Amino acid sequence: MRTLAIIKPDAVRKNVVGKIVSQITESGFTVLGMKMIRISRQQAEAFYAVHRERPFFGELTEFMSSGPIVPIALEKDNAVTDFRGLIGATNPAEAAEGTIRKLYASSLGENAVHGSDSEDNGRLEVAFFFAEAELADNLS
Ligand code: RTP
Ligand code: MG
Repeated sequence: MRTLAIIKPDAVRKNVVGKIVSQITESGFTVLGMKMIRISRQQAEAFYAVHRERPFFGELTEFMSSGPIVPIALEKDNAVTDFRGLIGATNPAEAAEGTIRKLYASSLGENAVHGSDSEDNGRLEVAFFFAEAELADNLS
């Protein structure tokens, strides 16, 4: 199963991309694709369209387009649930010890990482950032 991780602009600015990638791979995930890019406000709005009616939508899409991000296509059995366990609660104040958000997030809005919330969204979100032909398992 696939899931999409994104290392968000706050974590890129803190120079912890390498530490986060290490923690992800040491937790049993295989990296199928990874890149550092900057997305526009419009791309951030498209990615988080499910949240467009939420009060934090403007803040969220401004933040996600504020600097480089690192989308990572991941593969693992039970990838979606296991990755959300690894990153911890959305609000870092509520995240368990040792989770990526507990270790690196600054606040609810600037919470270091994204993880897909369902198997279907994992597939769709990987496809948002990666062409199938550029993923490492495309010959299997
Ligand atoms: P993500 O999608 O980024 O992995 O986060 P999540 O599933 O844990 O949380 P979600 O409900 O999907 O919210 C998306 C992002 O919006 C920001 N947020 N701000 N100000 C607020 O009340 C608020 N609530 C959510 C967070 O940065 C969250 O990651
Ligand atoms: Mg979410």
